[in-house]
Amino acid sequence: MDTKTQFAKLGLFDAKVPRYTSYPTAPHFSNDVTPTDFEGWVKAIPAGNSISLYIHVPFCRRLCWFCACRTQGTQSDDPVRIYLQTLKAEIASLGQILPKGVTLSRLHWGGGTPTLLAPDMMTELAQAIADIAPFATDYEFSVEIDPNEIDEARLDALAAAGMNRASIGVQDFDDDIQKTIGRIQSFDITKKAVEMIRARGITSLNADILYGLPHQTKERITESVQKLLSLSPDRVALYGYAHVPWMAKRQQMIPSDALPTPQERLDLFETATQLFMWDGYTEIGIDHFALKGDGLDVALRTGKLRRNFQGYTDDTADVLIGLGASSISRFPQGYAQNASSTSAYTAAVRAGEFATARGHTFKGEDLLRSRIIEMLMCTFGIDGAELQRDFGLSDAALMAHYREVTEKFEGMIETVGCQLSIKPEARAMTRIIARHFDTYDLSKAGHSSAI
Ligand SMILES: C[S@@+](CC[C@H](N)C(=O)[O-])C[C@H]1O[C@@H](n2cnc3c(N)ncnc32)[C@H](O)[C@@H]1O
Ligand code: SF4
Repeated sequence: MDTKTQFAKLGLFDAKVPRYTSYPTAPHFSNDVTPTDFEGWVKAIPAGNSISLYIHVPFCRRLCWFCACRTQGTQSDDPVRIYLQTLKAEIASLGQILPKGVTLSRLHWGGGTPTLLAPDMMTELAQAIADIAPFATDYEFSVEIDPNEIDEARLDALAAAGMNRASIGVQDFDDDIQKTIGRIQSFDITKKAVEMIRARGITSLNADILYGLPHQTKERITESVQKLLSLSPDRVALYGYAHVPWMAKRQQMIPSDALPTPQERLDLFETATQLFMWDGYTEIGIDHFALKGDGLDVALRTGKLRRNFQGYTDDTADVLIGLGASSISRFPQGYAQNASSTSAYTAAVRAGEFATARGHTFKGEDLLRSRIIEMLMCTFGIDGAELQRDFGLSDAALMAHYREVTEKFEGMIETVGCQLSIKPEARAMTRIIARHFDTYDLSKAGHSSAI
């Protein structure tokens, strides 16, 4: 049986599996976690520790049809200014309970489109954050930048606020594909954004591109990847396009008969991967690539690569606090998610409360399984020695965890002593293998294609 037939037999082309940016995944959160839990978990951060902070800006000037992110369109700045005041109130409330001496090792502004904030709003937001927690020495401050929604003044404001990593959305450079996915963005606009970013000394650049888009072929993705490579990003996220029109209604504008088949998606992914590898990039986890020496490359080589809601990271902080509508925080005790709708979030913050609406408190084997899944997603393997050290697992208990996958995925997985690894040719199966360690109701597991 050839490899692809074997993948098909094991469900690669039919299964819907989570991307495991958390465990348990967000559909398993419940309303058991309250603002009181969030407050208690913040207060339990040891004084002087470094944490990560994520700020969500759920607005865009245009709504791209392909986009599954939680965001809303607005042509006016009015709702954005009102939202900024709510965010500032939430930041100030956090500042009141944050233990002394806490610093920020990572700050990320995401969305939506944080770059639709006017320069004065960016400065105001950055100041509000600096007022409650200064940057740690080796901080990283990254912002998601839509090349269609950026200019010199806004970049000046971001650079002055300390931004040192930019993440630009590219998706695909092909004209036909751009028309079909409702996202027009010329190569020249993207190149200009990159030049403006680099002119301010911001040398760390990430770019997002997609495979599995309507009308995408191997030739077209090759051309798009080559154009992207001409801009020399330090990191690339090569996401599989998630077509979920029942959740993201605007995707109904995209004809599903123009989408590649799951087998074609795998070919597109492999074509793009090959191009990045030929150009000297290191493969980071299931869908990222980094130049040698980039933080993700170093983290992979030193065993410090982690996975969180923003994807792969070299941040080792135990606590990630998410502010803004729908943002998720992770603490050693569990996850806390803010109310999703901007109105419910605003109402809670205006009432002087935190906006936590749901979450999950870790229990039983959650932390062990979370770490196993994270290891698989980061390194395509399981470091049994680390699990035995951190979770006190006996040899027999560790082997019992391995047995189900080694039997089911025979020939794709190797074990040497207490270490397990997925063979390089079977890496496309990683999320399906990871799912075997997930004990939550898999019918709620997630809607994105396994490849
Ligand atoms: C939250 S968006 C913000 C990007 C920014 N607003 C822009 O347009 O450049 C971040 C990334 O999510 C990815 N994304 C959005 N919708 C997606 C989907 N349906 N499937 C896969 N990735 C998606 C895109 O690659 C996008 O660049
Ligand atoms: S891709 Fe970016 S600009 Fe387009 S709708 Fe999504 S968040 Fe907004």
